[in-house]
Amino acid sequence: MTPAAPLIEGRDLTRQFPMAAGAVTALNHASIRIDPAEYVAITGPSGCGKSTLLHLLGCVDQPSSGSLTFEGRDVARLNETERSRIRLTRIGFVFQRFFLLPMLTAWENVELPQAEAGVSRSERRTRTRELLEYVGLADRIDHRPSQLSGGEMQRVAIARALANRPALLLADEPTGELDEVTGDQIADLFDRVHADGTAIVVVTHNATVAARAGRRLAMNSGRIVAE
Ligand SMILES: Nc1ncnc2c1ncn2[C@@H]1O[C@H](COP(=O)(O)OP(=O)(O)OP(=O)(O)O)[C@@H](O)[C@H]1O
Ligand SMILES: [Mg+2]
Repeated sequence: MTPAAPLIEGRDLTRQFPMAAGAVTALNHASIRIDPAEYVAITGPSGCGKSTLLHLLGCVDQPSSGSLTFEGRDVARLNETERSRIRLTRIGFVFQRFFLLPMLTAWENVELPQAEAGVSRSERRTRTRELLEYVGLADRIDHRPSQLSGGEMQRVAIARALANRPALLLADEPTGELDEVTGDQIADLFDRVHADGTAIVVVTHNATVAARAGRRLAMNSGRIVAE
């Protein structure tokens, strides 16, 4: 049997940020392969390049050198419209601080990326209801972020990230703002997302989340140092 084509293949990824005081090397020849429906946790000390790596995997940022393919396409050869289409429809993002739009309700936050992707009104209605039920918030659809708890905000953010059925969920410290019990609920939700066939790459200091991933990568000084 031939091995499945990777979802993401990053080779020799280096990312330098030019600064007045000299270039900062945030990522230093890191290579990473993510298979479809894999669950990978990334750990490492502050400043070692974890968020920088996620930005590259998410096609938000581009490496200074090295190559990256997403679903077999060389990301460097895509134009900005093609990359933003990948971000919108193939990748979901979850952040430590949720980043929900404060003026929009839970419902509207989840509906927005579908509208941006051109999903019809009736499909949006069905999908948004399904997603808010999936994350256990069917009774909070009209709440704005300020009217939700931290755990609830993160569940809305996860529903939003899944809105366009991405192949990959990227999460940067998704439980960093949450207490232990609430963090465990998010870990449970990630398990379900993974079981439903979505690949997850999560940067985390949370032992529960890290323990549930199928693979753990440790980073240090811009490198992947252990698997
Ligand atoms: N836009 C930028 N411009 C200049 N330097 C940057 C930029 N982004 C990150 N860096 C630097 O690159 C290094 C890696 O940053 P990164 O945010 O990837 O770390 P991290 O592992 O996510 O840390 P933390 O756990 O604290 O979030 C840091 O030294 C940081 O100062
Ligand atoms: Mg970070």
